[in-house]
Amino acid sequence: MQIWLYSFCSPHSTFVSEVNSALMLAGITVRAHTGDESSGPGLVIVDSADPDMVEFVRASSQNGVRRVLVALGQGNDCASEDGWQLLDAGASDVLTWHELPNPGKVIAARLERWQKIDALVESPLVRQNLIGQSRTWRLILRRLVEVACFTDTPVLLYGETGTGKELAARLIHTLDPRRKERELVTLDCTTIVPELSGSELFGHERGAFTGAVAARDGAFALADGGTLFLDEIGELPAALQVQLLRVLQEHTYKRVGSNVWQRSDFRPICATNRDLREEEQQGKFRRDLYYRLATWSVTLPPLRQRVKDIIPLARHFLREAHPGEEPPPIDSRVRSYLETRSYPGNVRDLRNLILQIAARHVGEGPITMGDIPADERPAAPPTAMAWCDRSIEQALRRALASGLSLRTIRHTVDDAVIRLVVEEEAGSLQQAADRLQVSLRTLQKWRADRRDGAMAPVSLQPDAQVVGAIG
Ligand SMILES: Nc1ncnc2c1ncn2[C@@H]1O[C@H](COP(=O)(O)OP(=O)(O)OP(=O)(O)O)[C@@H](O)[C@H]1O
Ligand SMILES: [Mg+2]
Repeated sequence: MQIWLYSFCSPHSTFVSEVNSALMLAGITVRAHTGDESSGPGLVIVDSADPDMVEFVRASSQNGVRRVLVALGQGNDCASEDGWQLLDAGASDVLTWHELPNPGKVIAARLERWQKIDALVESPLVRQNLIGQSRTWRLILRRLVEVACFTDTPVLLYGETGTGKELAARLIHTLDPRRKERELVTLDCTTIVPELSGSELFGHERGAFTGAVAARDGAFALADGGTLFLDEIGELPAALQVQLLRVLQEHTYKRVGSNVWQRSDFRPICATNRDLREEEQQGKFRRDLYYRLATWSVTLPPLRQRVKDIIPLARHFLREAHPGEEPPPIDSRVRSYLETRSYPGNVRDLRNLILQIAARHVGEGPITMGDIPADERPAAPPTAMAWCDRSIEQALRRALASGLSLRTIRHTVDDAVIRLVVEEEAGSLQQAADRLQVSLRTLQKWRADRRDGAMAPVSLQPDAQVVGAIG
């Protein structure tokens, strides 16, 4: 095991050597931080609060993509807000060194867990089926892998339509060492008819009702030892919510027409595009059931939050359309069309579009604009104002109604735009500056001002480059 080490300690501090020997004893090889892109996990040690440490953690962790631990030494004057700030900047954890029973072992255990998770996230099984390398998607994959391999509790998957909830449920089942050898049973709660559901869920005995000519297993029995995927759980009728609760609590149920208790040990994974938490608060979904199902919850992001994944996904679907062949390249105009189109149906929407494009494309050479079906083409050529739709106008109306000045509104918008781009560029100010066509210095000033608690003062100057570029 290896870790890079970076110290924010004073030159006379003994903390550095203390950390080095603890890591060595735990079998961890320590190397200096080089800033190299491929550098593995790191440890930042701090013995007194340093104004640069948060930015260092943000840059070295690439906003949480790379694992960076922060260890605070004895007598450090970091307030707990600093801890939250460090986590917010991408630190994987903040450790108070002298409170750990055996700091070297604590760190070794974390490195070992991360190695296992990262190896699975990078495995062909995951990379070839759940496409995407954006920061948002990679963090979700890590969470799915961790939930699958290191827990055996229920999982609730949230997400808009077409974001990959079913795909995620399959991944959890396939990676779960306790469940993968057995069945993944899917039950679509939208198709359950309350009167017949007893049989669908519990199974029935022969002769239990008219037409029950033979005994039949229900979903609970089929999923024994495996996973039960309850899709669209938000649609489950109230009467069935009670029945499900009992099976989840006791793991026992009776077949329709039988008095004998059966046992079933399955892992429930539920998916929904509704806000079950809100529905539970409004009394529309049983609270006790909600808390049993949502031991772990994972929210799959809409495609608009992972724009960087659009082209890799498009290539994946082109490959699907031409199995066994090298997919055609996509020319720059089509790429930019794909990246700026809106996708209300998320990845499914993109897939449908790409399959149509693939069917129209003929001959060698790249996919070109003519391959886009006519009803998919933008109505009018995109203009600089095309993005400024009603939702923006509504937000601006609210700002005006609150009496905000043009200057304040402008600064808020500048700040939001910069924040979004910096997030999308995984914290890289240089890349964000290139995209926004402003200087690196402008964004460095923006970040410094945010750190000091000021609100985007970078755009307060009428001649500041940010105002000129995006105002
Ligand atoms: N990351 C991904 N990589 C590859 N294919 C994906 C990815 N996410 C979704 N898909 C594909 O998009 C389609 C929709 O995915 P899925 O059915 O899992 O979505 P869903 O969230 O369950 O949607 P719904 O709420 O409508 O049921 C499927 O064809 C799936 O294979
Ligand atoms: Mg689904």
